[in-house]
Amino acid sequence: MDLDKVLESRRSVRKYDATKQVTEKDLETIIEAAIQAPSWKNSQTARYYAVLDKDVHNKISDEALPAFNAKSSTGAALIITTFVKDRSGFDREGNPENECGNGWGYYDLGLHNANLILKAKDLGLDTLIMGIRDGDKIREILNIPENEIVVSVIAIGYSDSEATKPKRKRAEDILTII
Ligand SMILES: Cc1cc2nc3c(=O)[nH]c(=O)nc-3n(C[C@H](O)[C@H](O)[C@H](O)COP(=O)(O)O)c2cc1C
Repeated sequence: MDLDKVLESRRSVRKYDATKQVTEKDLETIIEAAIQAPSWKNSQTARYYAVLDKDVHNKISDEALPAFNAKSSTGAALIITTFVKDRSGFDREGNPENECGNGWGYYDLGLHNANLILKAKDLGLDTLIMGIRDGDKIREILNIPENEIVVSVIAIGYSDSEATKPKRKRAEDILTII
């Protein structure tokens, strides 16, 4: 799909068709796209846990998502996104290079995740990034190591609704040219 069309047509989808599921092959293609993103000194600290198993999905929905996000992601697969902490933005001795600290890890993960959701759209899949979740519960359920920071849960599947585009600012609202 043309890049402008992908950018324009991607929406946060909150209703999924449970009869159609993302495949492992699609997930691999999408994660390969995420990996093409730039990162601090090419540190590539993003990590992904894709939940296709229904029982694990239900456990996450019941115990780690608020009811509205659990409902929105019903029928989709879940991708838990994390990053290895204290590496992106840090020197070899483990000291932060500047005041942003692990902010660079979040930054890199966001770049990866932008690629991820755009590649999903390119393949005909839709997504919902969920930042309102219980990170500690997710760590416990998926046994995520302590050196990774749990960030978002991304629902991924086939849309069962028409999502409308929330209003956007214009370039002149956010751009200062000096
Ligand atoms: C970091 C982040 C966290 C978000 N968390 C949630 C969430 O917990 N629940 C939800 O329904 N939408 C969530 N969203 C989706 C936003 O509400 C959505 O991206 C925004 O309204 C713009 O709509 P669009 O994605 O369709 O362009 C989140 C988006 C981002 C980028």
